[in-house]
Amino acid sequence: MEEIDFKRHRRLRKNAFMRDLVRENHLSTDDLIYPLFVVEGEKIRNPVPSMPGIEQISLDYLADEIRELQTLGIKAVLLFGIPNEKDHVGSGAYDENGIVQKAIQLIKSEVPEMLVIADTCLCEYTDHGHCGLIIDGEVANDPSLQLHVKTAISQAKAGADIIAPSNMMDGFVKAIRKGLDNNGFSYVPIMSYAVKYASAFYGPFRDAADSAPQFGDRKTYQMDPANRLEALREAEADVEEGADFLIVKPGMPYMDIIRDVKNAFHLPIVAYNVSGEYSMVKAAALNGWIDEKQIVMELLTGFKRAGADLIITYFAKDVAKWLNESSLKQGKKA
Ligand code: PBG
Repeated sequence: MEEIDFKRHRRLRKNAFMRDLVRENHLSTDDLIYPLFVVEGEKIRNPVPSMPGIEQISLDYLADEIRELQTLGIKAVLLFGIPNEKDHVGSGAYDENGIVQKAIQLIKSEVPEMLVIADTCLCEYTDHGHCGLIIDGEVANDPSLQLHVKTAISQAKAGADIIAPSNMMDGFVKAIRKGLDNNGFSYVPIMSYAVKYASAFYGPFRDAADSAPQFGDRKTYQMDPANRLEALREAEADVEEGADFLIVKPGMPYMDIIRDVKNAFHLPIVAYNVSGEYSMVKAAALNGWIDEKQIVMELLTGFKRAGADLIITYFAKDVAKWLNESSLKQGKKA
């Protein structure tokens, strides 16, 4: 027999069972976090035009939605609120009867097992659409922190399981940790948007949450997409300040950063597969240009391979359905 001098990688790809045996990364419903846009008013299921399949929903429909997610095996939701009225200081964000506070209470009373993650930011509640207070035409850091702390405490009081500050002010994790601890919430974890780039991929979200900045942009507080070391500095500070989870956002164009952060820190890493990433895939799928299911599964598996432990994604429901279907099929095979 003639000797070969190369490796036979195809041995381990021989058939589906062999490939199952050697697969390195797996996606499961445990990995998924589903974002929800809750809106004031009644009987509202308002489709977001730039995000086909995503709706703003009012509180009277929320319990049914949560039960559907639970049936699908989804264990966590991320809440964004859209108030009727906005003002200069984002009062709706820290109002004890605010839309998100009410939504949290409702979910925790109807479906207590569902983990509720509250996004902590002001941009949906301010008339100028920025994530902090405007003083002398600039987004002021330290005065904004107090409002973010108030928001986080009000969310924890309402029953939020996890606080997820996305405002990108300096020192927000430290300030919020202290605020929670001093108010009896030392067991409520912080899922920090540690690494958040100033990204055009948030465009459709700003339609969904009605939170586009009315002047300027977010580049003085969100990060420059060209930077990598800056991501490690941001994440390092949040770890020191007491973060329990680290989010990297957006996801798709920043898989290298997910890996960097995963390698450098020993906390659960969360990839945010943001609105623009969702809309691009959806648009191509609706045109029949790509196979949506295969593309989405490949994409989310890519996040896992890059080092994400959890994925915040608007595809969560679809993915849960696909995963459930395939486990049914596996069951039949066995
Ligand atoms: C609030 C916030 C934003 C997103 C999540 N939290 C918008 C922004 O920073 O402009 C974007 C999420 C997405 O695009 O899916 N600050």
